[in-house]
Amino acid sequence: MNFSNSIIQWYLKHKRDLPWRDTLDPYKIWLSEIILQQTRVEQGLPYYLKFTDAFPTITDLANASEDIVLKHWQGLGYYSRARNLHHSAQTVRDRFQGRFPSSYSEIISLKGVGEYTAAAIASFSYNLPHAVVDGNVIRVISRVFGVLDPVDSMFGLGEVKSIAARELDLERPALHNQAIMEFGALQCVPVNPNCRDCPLSGVCYAKKMEVVKEIPLKSKKTAVKNLFLYYAVVKYKNGLFVKRRDSEGIWKGLYDFPVLESETPILEEQVLSFFNKEYALSNQAVLTDISPAYRHLLSHRKIEARFFRFEVNNIPSFSLDKANWFSVDKILEKGVPRLIERYFEAINLYK
Ligand code: ADE
Repeated sequence: MNFSNSIIQWYLKHKRDLPWRDTLDPYKIWLSEIILQQTRVEQGLPYYLKFTDAFPTITDLANASEDIVLKHWQGLGYYSRARNLHHSAQTVRDRFQGRFPSSYSEIISLKGVGEYTAAAIASFSYNLPHAVVDGNVIRVISRVFGVLDPVDSMFGLGEVKSIAARELDLERPALHNQAIMEFGALQCVPVNPNCRDCPLSGVCYAKKMEVVKEIPLKSKKTAVKNLFLYYAVVKYKNGLFVKRRDSEGIWKGLYDFPVLESETPILEEQVLSFFNKEYALSNQAVLTDISPAYRHLLSHRKIEARFFRFEVNNIPSFSLDKANWFSVDKILEKGVPRLIERYFEAINLYK
């Protein structure tokens, strides 16, 4: 069998028309790959268009403030991707005179660029012979070639990588890589793939052995943790108190409110007593509303947030710093977690 020929033929017939496939600009290819890392194409496409419009070159991105970059990322999640993107744009500006590096080793030296992304940029932009291995490729290769070790183990993943490298079409690495990823995204899908109408059904190990459902094998399931957030939304005149998250975590660099975080639910009275102790709110603030729960699902977190709204007539002692008080409009100009944006949409109060 010529695996590469088969998927390339399939690709030329079935591929989607996507804007990052019409360019060799490594900046745009890099951007698209970072956006698509944990995001579906339909969801990522408008962000790609917005980003390339706002920052047409890597130097434009490097010269923008982190707040503006995060603002453009808002709603995509995994914000470290945007922070690394911004950081690496500055690296390219300062260390590579604004020209995107063209060797695999330089590309992978950029922050936020791992093996997969480096192979994608090197092959799509420069046609260098590096095989991409992402979730789609892992599924296609483990099914077609019968990788029977768990692909979340070093050993199983190593087998997939060595098959991927062996099967790469060295004359056409860009086309080969686009083809295998698209084949995984559209044809060899995780659940109920249409094997009857597949160009590889005659040679596919999983099809022959009737184990399509079981492959790729995984040794462990990812644990999803509950996270309960209790926010204090404190209003003074036309402003709300917000803080930029500076500590490491999923929302670093975004703005939110004072919060009580817990892995288990907490009773209202206890939340109020926490706010009282931590922020001395009850002496001077009037509690005006407690929101219903807002749920937000991340790959490894189930978040449930409730918003406790307070009004105060004087700036509370916990924050005499005027720099933290903003109108809702101004807050929405900054990056906020999608959850908070949803809350603002629902309350429609301070406009
Ligand atoms: N997912 C990750 N990279 C992609 C690409 N270049 N085209 C389509 N989907 C992708």
